[in-house]
This record gives sequence, C-alpha cells and structure tokens, in this order.
Amino acid sequence: MKISVIGCGYLGAVHAATLASMGHSVVGIDVDAAKVAHLNKGFAPFHEPGLDELLRDGFTTGRLSFSTDFADAADAQVHFLCVGTPQSKTSDTADLSYLVAATKSLLPHMAKGAAVVGKSTVPVGTVEILRSLLSRRSDVLLGWNPEFLRQGTAVKDSLVPDRFVYGVPGGKGAAAGAPVTAVLDAVYEPLVLAGIPRLVCNFATAELIKSASNAFLATKLSFINAMAELCDASGADVTELSEAMGLDPRIGNRYLHAGLGFGGGCLPKDVRSFRAQARALSVPSVDEWMGVVDSINLDQRSRTVEVARDMCRGFLAGRTVTVLGAAFKPDTDDIRDSPALDVALQLAAAGAHVTVTDPKAINNAWMRYPQLRFEASTTRALEGAELVLLLTEWDEYRDLSPTAVAGLVRRRMVLDARNVLDAEAWRTAGWTVRGLGTGSAAAVEATDSHQPATSAAAAKEPAAARTITEVPPSNGYRPAQSARGVVTPR
Ligand SMILES: NC(=O)c1ccc[n+]([C@@H]2O[C@H](COP(=O)([O-])OP(=O)(O)OC[C@H]3O[C@@H](n4cnc5c(N)ncnc54)[C@H](O)[C@@H]3O)[C@@H](O)[C@H]2O)c1
Repeated sequence: MKISVIGCGYLGAVHAATLASMGHSVVGIDVDAAKVAHLNKGFAPFHEPGLDELLRDGFTTGRLSFSTDFADAADAQVHFLCVGTPQSKTSDTADLSYLVAATKSLLPHMAKGAAVVGKSTVPVGTVEILRSLLSRRSDVLLGWNPEFLRQGTAVKDSLVPDRFVYGVPGGKGAAAGAPVTAVLDAVYEPLVLAGIPRLVCNFATAELIKSASNAFLATKLSFINAMAELCDASGADVTELSEAMGLDPRIGNRYLHAGLGFGGGCLPKDVRSFRAQARALSVPSVDEWMGVVDSINLDQRSRTVEVARDMCRGFLAGRTVTVLGAAFKPDTDDIRDSPALDVALQLAAAGAHVTVTDPKAINNAWMRYPQLRFEASTTRALEGAELVLLLTEWDEYRDLSPTAVAGLVRRRMVLDARNVLDAEAWRTAGWTVRGLGTGSAAAVEATDSHQPATSAAAAKEPAAARTITEVPPSNGYRPAQSARGVVTPR
C-alpha cells in the first residue's frame, strides 16, 4: 500500500518507519526542511532508541522516503495526520492550526477515494472540523486512529502496540464506517492477524479514549505525588507505600512512582486541553479534577526547589549546584515542558550557579535556555558541586557510584527527586540524601558548615559568566531557532 505520513516528529517519524517495516511504501511529509533532509540521510533528527535502525531498513528496502512537497503524497491511498497539537499560547485549549494547515495543504493532492486518518491527540469534536474542510471531497474517507506510543520505547510500542482504536463514521457496526475500517485493517494487517486488540468506535469516542487515557495516567502520577507530600508530613516513606499499593492487581505499580512529576510534549498539554474540553461541554467536575492533577504536578517542581533550598540551609544564592538530567524523561532528548529544566531555571533564578548535564538532551536544552550552563561530561558537571540534584532518572545516573562521585564534589549532598538511588548505599558513602516523600525531611547534617554567599553577592554575578563549556557532538539536526529562549509554561 502507498501511505503518506504528514508531520514527521516524535510520532510521525516512528509511524512512517514502522509502516515501511511492515511492507508499505511510505512517504513522510513535513514542513521542516532540515528535519526532512536529516531523515532522508537515514538518521532520526532526535534521540529515540531503535529508530535509526528502522529508518535505515526503510531506505535499504526503498520503501521509505521523506519530502517537504505535499505533491509527493498524491498517489497515497492513506494519509496519516501526525502534526503537533500543542497548548495554545493564550489558553488551555489545543492549538489545532497545524492540523488544519496540513489538511488544507493535502487537499489538492489527494487521489480519488483516498483515506485521511488522524493520529494526533485532539479534543473531542476535532474530526468534525476536518470533515467540514473535506466536505467538497465526498469520495474521501475519514478516520481517527489515536496513537499510544511512548517516547523512549516508541519503536517497540509501534511494532507491538497494546491496542488499535479506529474512530469511524457511525461507529462500530455502522455501514458508513466499514470502508475506513477495512482500510485500517489492511494497513495494520500483520498486527491485527497477530491478535493485537482492535476497537472500532465513533469519532467522539476515539478522540476521548486518548484524552481519557492520558488524564488517567496523569491522575495516577499526581495521586502518588500527593501521597508523597503526606508521607513527608507524617514520616512515612512513599516508595514503600507505592510498592505495597502496586502489588494490588486492581491498582498496579506502573505510573505509581512518586517524584518530580510529569512533563513532555503530551501529558501536560493534554491535561489542560481536557480541562478546556470539560468546560466547553459543561462538565465542571472533570475540569476541577484535572486542575488539581495539574497543580499537584507543577507543585512537585517548586517542592523540589524548596527541599534544595532547605538542604542549602535556606540559601541557594551563590551555591554551586549540579543538575543531573535535562530531558523530560530518560531515553529521549525531548525537553518540552521538562520538569528538570524548570527546576534548574528556578534554582538559577534564586542565584545558584547551576550546571546541567544530560546524556542526550544538552543540545536541545542549550539552544532553548542559553541562560543556563551546560556540561556534557557527567564527571566534569559534578566537579565542585555543593548540591547534586537527580532530576531525570537516566540509567547512568541511577548507576553512579556514591564513592566515586564523592571524590568529585565539594559537599556530599544529593537530592534524588526521582527516588531512584539506593539511599542507604549513598548514606554509607557519607552523603546526605533527600528524596520526595521518602521520610527524609530531617535537618541537613550538622557537619555542613559552609557559609553561603549573600544573595546580593550572588545577584551581582553576570549572566554571561554562566556560559556553555562544552556542547556534545550533535547528530547534526538543529530545531528551528525560533524555539530559543522559550520558558516552560506554568
Ligand atoms: N510524542 C509522543 O510520544 C506522542 C504520543 C502519542 C500521541 N502524540 C501526539 O502526536 C502529535 C504529534 O506529536 P509529536 O510529539 O510528534 O510532535 P512534534 O512536534 O515532534 O512533531 C510534529 C511535526 O509536525 C510538523 N508539522 C507542523 N505543521 C505541519 C504541516 N502543516 N504540514 C506538515 N508537517 C507539519 C512539524 O514540523 C513537526 O515535525 C501530537 O498531537 C501529540 O499529542 C505524541
């Protein structure tokens, strides 16, 4: 089958490469010429484990190509819409302008009888907007097939998905929905035959399944983070609490790990979009609920800064602080709404000398936040630190040897905001260890006799002094420069 994938970001590039690996002939279309050029060299323009290999396979077989020209999608039988639906700059709602623009660009090139299938995450009712855009093409089929892949495991999630959701006209069993159901079955044939569950429903249900799934995941994370706050207030340990709760099969232990909370290009904006949808549909309970989930999540960031301040005896100004992690989660270089960078910025704003390191996300972070200091080498980043914060739980930070790191830092203090370190091992090596909700809210060791610099002195530090000492070898792709300097939305 000839297929086009419109929008080749974290979702679209993986989807295009996966479809090619299933034997389809796929063209990926994107308006970002640098991204397309990069993809056409057979390299992912971002870090996603396994994607480079899948792309190269697609090029070797001749089944995969990328273009900026929508005319190259003209003979495709199916067009998957995978463009971004970010939070609007002025409200909680999703910005659908990319989706509308992509559909309009595609319209003049669609072959007779082609299918347009959305995969982006959208508010309920979005398909109706697309339907009206396509109203003059009664021959064109419309479907909605929300995507559930997770960055970091996106290739595996696409090759072996949990389930398929097909939103079709009229829903399950309706004659009007049969043609697009048949098209999607043909696209995913090997996976459907292998027994991956496939649910057919109407458009509103398909749109809501994705929003509700993300709302539930966010709720679970914010629930356990609220429990972490209770644990800190009561002397309980949230890691033991969540382990015990998670053993109940009705609860389960996934997404039940307390820490700095969620970020990235999906959950935060999807929670806010869900609030806006609930308001528009006059369902205030969902609006209020999601509002609490969002604020608990954002509070984890300021709580982390407060614990850091407490560990520094009330003064962050002038302290040398190392932040481990810039990506919003491990195994990605994506820094969209990264909790780690939000905390780093808050620490810097309080006058701390912050050095951020990350195995993959330094280039993206440096371009976006030139006011922070970045260091590619973990060892060099740790040298002279008075406080270390573990903010993104990459394996290489989990596996750090407390004894080896002790030889690098000026003061053995670590704030493990992801609750992943072996606290006992670190304490045995002479470290003061704090987590979030781990009952370690006791006072900082009396041996810490450092006299902090005054805030006034710290405030005099010229911003230019915090410069980049090293930028790691990049994969050559640079996001649009317009992204520079954008501050995480709060
Ligand atoms: N990233 C994920 O893990 C994930 C998972 C499931 C669903 N989603 C959803 O998928 C959608 C895309 O997310 P993403 O993370 O891939 O975003 P992204 O920003 O990485 O990619 C979007 C791409 O669309 C391109 N684009 C924008 N306007 C275009 C146009 N008019 N024509 C062609 N291309 C255009 C951009 O250049 C960009 O490359 C969002 O709705 C998101 O919520 C993402």
